[in-house]
Amino acid sequence: MSFWTNKRVVVSGGGGFLGSFVVEKLRAAGCGEITVPRSAQYDLREKSEALRLYKDARPDIFIHLAAVVGGIGANRINPGRFFYENAAMGLNAIEAARIAGIEKFVCAGTICSYPKFTAVPFREEDFWNGYPEETNAPYGLAKKMLLVQLQAYRQQYGMNGIYLTPVNLYGPRDNFDLETSHVIPALIRKCWEAKQARAPEVLAWGTGSATREFLYVEDAAEAIVLATEKYNKPDLVNLGCGEEISVRDLLEQIRSLVGYEGTIRWDATKPDGQPRRCLDTSRAVAEFGWRAKTPLREGLRETIQWFESNARLAMRA
Ligand SMILES: NC(=O)c1ccc[n+]([C@@H]2O[C@H](COP(=O)([O-])OP(=O)(O)OC[C@H]3O[C@@H](n4cnc5c(N)ncnc54)[C@H](OP(=O)(O)O)[C@@H]3O)[C@@H](O)[C@H]2O)c1
Repeated sequence: MSFWTNKRVVVSGGGGFLGSFVVEKLRAAGCGEITVPRSAQYDLREKSEALRLYKDARPDIFIHLAAVVGGIGANRINPGRFFYENAAMGLNAIEAARIAGIEKFVCAGTICSYPKFTAVPFREEDFWNGYPEETNAPYGLAKKMLLVQLQAYRQQYGMNGIYLTPVNLYGPRDNFDLETSHVIPALIRKCWEAKQARAPEVLAWGTGSATREFLYVEDAAEAIVLATEKYNKPDLVNLGCGEEISVRDLLEQIRSLVGYEGTIRWDATKPDGQPRRCLDTSRAVAEFGWRAKTPLREGLRETIQWFESNARLAMRA
């Protein structure tokens, strides 16, 4: 008998990028019953749909990963939608959990909620010390309110809700649509297409000077499963690998792994986003014994391999 043997678990967003890996880990852990509600069946922007989901699935645990997400471009085009839909989905999922009297609620937050100028590495204690970088503030703040909701519900109703804050994720099955993708899949696709077309240069967004931290999606899924098992406190927990890299160095690594030999031209008219990003990950180690395993180069190799074998599918849009 493991923690998971008799558990009924709902993974909202379980058909998405991170969610598909969380579902795989839960299956491997022997989870009793897993429900993956798709948005077409249960639109979590509607409270009635969230209530219906709890009624149908009767979960002990709800892992909330459903969200509308994207890179800088998508955040610039959709600030209103990203704010409203992420707030509404979370508010409804958490309120329905309270009404259902759930055992535990697990919420994925985001590094985009941190203040624009946070001392590096970002410590959980600094989460409230300023306004996020403007481009992704609507997304980041909508998700940040869910931490407030969980803490308030713990205080008033004794509901056990935990909140995890992952850095930028990457890995197989990521979104490679250039309109909506995050930086790693966008750069992989651009280098790969330039190599196929024998193009002399690749145009990259920004100056390349911003720094980022990247967490391999399987490591993030492992952290979520472990935290669900072992962590029961109101305070948020960072999920990252603790390594900072400039976008310029990242692109060099991707270029060499893809085997593209042309030049990179930086389009400084496009925004860099938050100037620096890197998390302090010591709380996750102390609270539930998790640390990331996959080195960036190895994770990039896996991601590129997946992209090359699934290029048509990955470029579906
Ligand atoms: N990707 C990252 O770099 C990153 C970094 C930090 C945090 N996160 C967080 O991690 C979580 C997962 O992100 P992801 O990258 O895996 O996103 P994703 O691949 O886009 O998956 C999100 C899922 O949310 C579901 N969804 C969207 N709108 C919905 C609605 N109205 N009702 C119900 N479900 C809805 C979608 O389900 P259908 O497929 O059924 O439409 C989709 O599969 C999110 O909470 C995100 O904020 C992601």
